[in-house]
Amino acid sequence: MKLPVLSERMQAIEDMVLPGLPVADIGTDHGLIPADILLKGICPFAVLTDINSGPLEKCRENLCDFGIDPSLYSIIQGDGFDPIGDGGFGTVITAGMGGELIIEFFEFTGWSLTRPEVEPIAKRFVLQPRTHADDLRSYLTESEFRLCDYKLAKERGRICEVFAVEPCAAGEARPDCGLVSEFLLEKNDPLTAEFVEGKIRKAYRIAENASSSDRADAKDAAQVWHSVARQLEEIRRNI
Ligand SMILES: C[S@@+](CC[C@H](N)C(=O)[O-])C[C@H]1O[C@@H](n2cnc3c(N)ncnc32)[C@H](O)[C@@H]1O
Repeated sequence: MKLPVLSERMQAIEDMVLPGLPVADIGTDHGLIPADILLKGICPFAVLTDINSGPLEKCRENLCDFGIDPSLYSIIQGDGFDPIGDGGFGTVITAGMGGELIIEFFEFTGWSLTRPEVEPIAKRFVLQPRTHADDLRSYLTESEFRLCDYKLAKERGRICEVFAVEPCAAGEARPDCGLVSEFLLEKNDPLTAEFVEGKIRKAYRIAENASSSDRADAKDAAQVWHSVARQLEEIRRNI
C-alpha cells in the first residue's frame, strides 16, 4: 500500500498538532499532512479543504490509495476558514500560502480584539506562511493569540517557518513583532543562525537594488534596508 512521505516542513507541522481532537487542513492540496495524521491515529477525524477542485481530486485519490477509512475524513471545497465555520477543532493547519492571505482568513472569521465574543474555531492554529511570516506573527500576537511553538524546517533548500498559536484572553498575548521572533530566538532552533543570515543577505540585496534605482524614494528605501540589515547583524551576533 502507498504511504505518505512527509518533508521536514510537513513533519514539523504534524508535530505541532494537538492529538486526540479533530483537525482541519486549509488549502490541503495533496492532503499528505492530514493523511499521515489519520494513519498514525494522532487525530480521530480530519476535514480537508481547498479553494480549487483540482487539488481536492488529487487529495481524494491520495487518501483512497493510502487506504484511509472515508468515515474518518471529510473533503470540502471552499475559501479560507469558510468550510470550517462551525468550529470544534483541536487544530487548524494552514500551510504553504502567503502570510497576507492567512491574515485575511483570520480577519474574515472575525475573532479579534474588536469582536472578542466570537468563539475561536480551534484550540490551536498551526501556520506555515510562505511569505510575510513576520506580518502574520505580528498580527496574531498583537491580537488574542499566544505563540506556543516555533520551528524552522528546510524544504528544497529553503528554510520555512512553522509556528503554532492558541487563542487566549484579551491582554494575555505577548506581542512578538521584531525582525526575528523573540519566541524563536529564545527557543534556540538549530537553523536560527542560517535563517537570520538569509534575512541579512536579503536586506542588503534590497538596499543595493534601491541604491541603483532612479525612483524618487530610492535613497530613503536604501537607508531603511541598510538599517534593517544592521539590526539583523546585531541579532545574529547574539545567537
Ligand atoms: C502550495 S499549496 C500548499 C499545500 C499544503 N498545505 C502544504 O503545505 O504542503 C497551496 C494550496 O492552497 C490552496 N489555496 C489557495 N488559496 C486558498 C484559499 N483562499 N482557500 C483555501 N485554499 C487555498 C491552493 O489551491 C493550493 O492547493
